[in-house]
Order: sequence, then C-alpha cells, then structure tokens
Amino acid sequence: MNFDDLARPCIRAERKKRLLIAMDGPAGVGKSTVGRLVAKALGYRFINTGEMYRALTWRALEERLDLGDAPALSRLARRIRWDFRTMADGVTIRAFVDGRSVARRIQDERVGKNSSTVASVPGVRRCLRRLQRRLGRDGGVVMEGRDIATNVFPDADLKIYLDASAAERARRRTRQLRAQGKGADFDSIRAAILSRDRQDKGRKANPLRRAKGAVVIDSTRLSLREVVDRILKRIAGRPL
Ligand code: C5P
Repeated sequence: MNFDDLARPCIRAERKKRLLIAMDGPAGVGKSTVGRLVAKALGYRFINTGEMYRALTWRALEERLDLGDAPALSRLARRIRWDFRTMADGVTIRAFVDGRSVARRIQDERVGKNSSTVASVPGVRRCLRRLQRRLGRDGGVVMEGRDIATNVFPDADLKIYLDASAAERARRRTRQLRAQGKGADFDSIRAAILSRDRQDKGRKANPLRRAKGAVVIDSTRLSLREVVDRILKRIAGRPL
C-alpha cells in the first residue's frame, strides 16, 4: 500500500478509529526497534520522525544551503515533495524526497551531526509537524521522535516515554557497531550520546520532555521483549 492513500483527505467518519501511539525518548534508546515491533504486533504502521529531519538535512547539504539560514531551511522543507510509502515489511513508513529514497543517505555521519541544527528551526518543525499530523490522524500508527506526545499529538491514545541511562545506551550502541565489524570506542560514544541529550533537551523549539500523561518506561535493565510487552499490556483490552 502507498501511504499516500492515508495522507490524502478522506472521509474520516467512515473509518473505524484505530489508536495513535506516540513515543518519545532520547537518542539510542531503541525507540525504532520497539516501535516497529509494537506496530507489527498490532497490525499498525510505524513512523520514525527523526528520519524526516535527517532527510531534510541531507537535502540541505546536497543543495549546499547555509545551515545557519533558518528561513532558507523552512522554505526548503515546504518546497520538497514529500511522499510516504510502506516498505516491504508492511509496517515501516519511509519518507521519499522529491521521489528519491533517502534511507541510506540519511545514515551518513554528516547528516546525523547536522540534523539537530536543522531540527532546531521553528519553521522546519511546523512544516514537518503538519506532515506528521496528516500521517497519524486516522490512527493505526506508532510514531516515534522527540516531541510526538508533547507537540505533534498531545491527545495521542497512548503516550510512551522510553528512557535508559546514557551508559546503557552507549553499551548497546558499542555492541551493535562491533557486531557489524566496525570499530567502536565506548567513551566517545557515551560522550556523543550525552551531547545529543543536551541538544535535544536544551533547545527552545519543542525540546525533548516527558509528556503529561506519558507512561515512562526505563529500559536500562529490561530486555527488548519486556519493553514491548509492557507497551502491549497498556493497550490490551482497548479496541484496535
Ligand atoms: O532520532 P534521530 O537521531 O534520527 O533524529 C534526528 C534529529 O532529529 C535529531 O537531532 C533529533 O533531535 C531530531 N528530531 C526532532 N524531533 C523529532 C524527531 C527527531 O527534533 N520528533
């Protein structure tokens, strides 16, 4: 299915309301892995909104925009043709920019490093929030990011704040990189995670916060399965 179908105006009354699950949390806490598994278990779609900020950052770098030029970044966000398509897993929604896949490009280190600058521009955030609201308005979606429950969907059916200590997040990331045969230094990874936390929590526009009414799950000592089960338990008994 092309997610454009959901993004198009539709007669909402004809659709059975399915849940909108909003999940926030710091970098490297496993929101995507958890969110995708929850969505899969429920037959929902999963959206990682960080990818949208990264996609815009990649496009800005490609156009050699001055990343200090906030109005130019906001204009670029509005000018891009954004498409959202469901991937082969039947769960994951990915952004396509002007018809191009960005999945690999947004993993670039330069993109990651610059994305917090781009994400701090209020005009950019307003534009992406509009898209995110369109993607989630009919429910049946798990959406993760930094401001989903505080700003994008403050009325979400379920709000999750997923947390873990910086040391544990750094351990997981180190393990992951080493498993891929890449060199990984725990101390520098931990320092990078702490710096991302400061940026995400300290910025003016929609900083990372625990939303009112959010269920806080500290995954420091929990397995992936335990985290997913805790979330699914919160939903048990609700109409899907
Ligand atoms: O999650 P990820 O690290 O891929 O996010 C990329 C960038 O987008 C980060 O700088 C993050 O702070 C920002 N972001 C955001 N709001 C969201 C999702 C991500 O500001 N809802």
